[in-house]
Amino acid sequence: MHQFHYAGNKLHCEGVSLESLVKKFGTPLYVYSQNTLADHYQKLDRAMKPVDHMVCFAMKANSNLSVVRTLANCGSGFDIVSVGELMRVIKAGGDPKKCVFAGAAKTEAEIEFALKQGVYCFNAESEPELVRINKVAARLKKIAPVAVRVNPNVAAKTHSKITTGTYEDKFGIAFESIEGVYARASKLKNLRLRGVQMHIGSQITETTPFEKAVQKMLPLVAKLKARHHIEFFSIGGGLGIVYKGALESGSPSWWKTTAGKTILTPQKYADRLLPLLKPLGLKILMEPGRFITGNAGVLVTHVEYVKRTGRKNFVIVDAAMNDLIRPAFYEAYHQILPLNKKVRPTMSSDVVGGVCESGDYFCKDRPLPKFAAGEHLALMSAGAYGFVMASTYNTRPLTAEILVNGKQVAVVRERQKVQETWAGETVAPWLK
Ligand code: LLP
Repeated sequence: MHQFHYAGNKLHCEGVSLESLVKKFGTPLYVYSQNTLADHYQKLDRAMKPVDHMVCFAMKANSNLSVVRTLANCGSGFDIVSVGELMRVIKAGGDPKKCVFAGAAKTEAEIEFALKQGVYCFNAESEPELVRINKVAARLKKIAPVAVRVNPNVAAKTHSKITTGTYEDKFGIAFESIEGVYARASKLKNLRLRGVQMHIGSQITETTPFEKAVQKMLPLVAKLKARHHIEFFSIGGGLGIVYKGALESGSPSWWKTTAGKTILTPQKYADRLLPLLKPLGLKILMEPGRFITGNAGVLVTHVEYVKRTGRKNFVIVDAAMNDLIRPAFYEAYHQILPLNKKVRPTMSSDVVGGVCESGDYFCKDRPLPKFAAGEHLALMSAGAYGFVMASTYNTRPLTAEILVNGKQVAVVRERQKVQETWAGETVAPWLK
């Protein structure tokens, strides 16, 4: 459940109306609900309680320092994919010892920094990477904790750009090769084989692919435990969220649930997976990103113009694909709600940004309330892979980010000044 709701006609984040935030901070504006973040973390943490476990938030989904701190305060660990993310954890007051370091292209410098910080584990994606981690650890006279990412070759039934667990994908090491890889890695003196990891994809809305992958992994994991004394099995992230009709029902038709899909709740996930996992007697790690932050954030935008062409009604807004790229990149659906839900007719509309690309849209031919220039809309479920994937394309400054906690409001990232978009650039001396 998230804490975006209408009070009267006004869309609120927790105890604060989004209109009041727009007045103070302008648009486009990302707004996050702290209590939703904590609630999602706790729901998953509680559901997994019957086993020894650690939730490592995949901070690629949202790495704002306040989001990281909120989750660190809840006890979360972190799934990091760069030294930059590790430095963010440290800056936000999180614990490097609860970080798992993933990613297929770790550099020597990154491995060195992470080793010095004492990360919980390196999730390695190839044998040359294991060799490199061993070499850096030997130079530093340290023992590096490692896990190997297994590609279980299970289709996750999700968008092709976010499936990762089949042999068509670049991720991990093939299931059939794993035993040999562990045998060879066990001879590398500066490695400690601490665990084994898998991740089959993202935005998975059924439990079956997770179950299939875990079931396939079980005999292998048991063997690795017996032979190499591994301590943990990481089952990755990927828990999907509801994008269509993410707001509660009982509202007029255009924000009622239209998907007919049942939410993949943490309880359902745990009920199906725990009976499989418990007998292993290992610590279970999870790396959820979207599940924790997706429905905890929205992107608020201002309607600049409404333009009717022969066939279409274009609602042109001040946010664009550079601020939220998911619709352009994945044809992703984000529910669009007015900040003021006054009664009005429905109209089929395209909501589009101002970037010079035909891919710059948030929806096409969608029945929406008839919007007028000057009003504000919220793009829902924008808390995961939203701001973190933003760019300054078209020299559009990065948006501000706001954290709400009850009635408290903080600017957790200032709006970028346009001059800052060319900071660090120069005109070459010979051009002057
Ligand atoms: N663990 C690993 C190894 C991953 O590669 C990912 C996501 C996660 C965990 C977290 O997955 P989640 O729980 O958030 O599904 N930008 C795309 C999603 C890319 C996901 C990349 N890997 C989107 O906007 O849909």
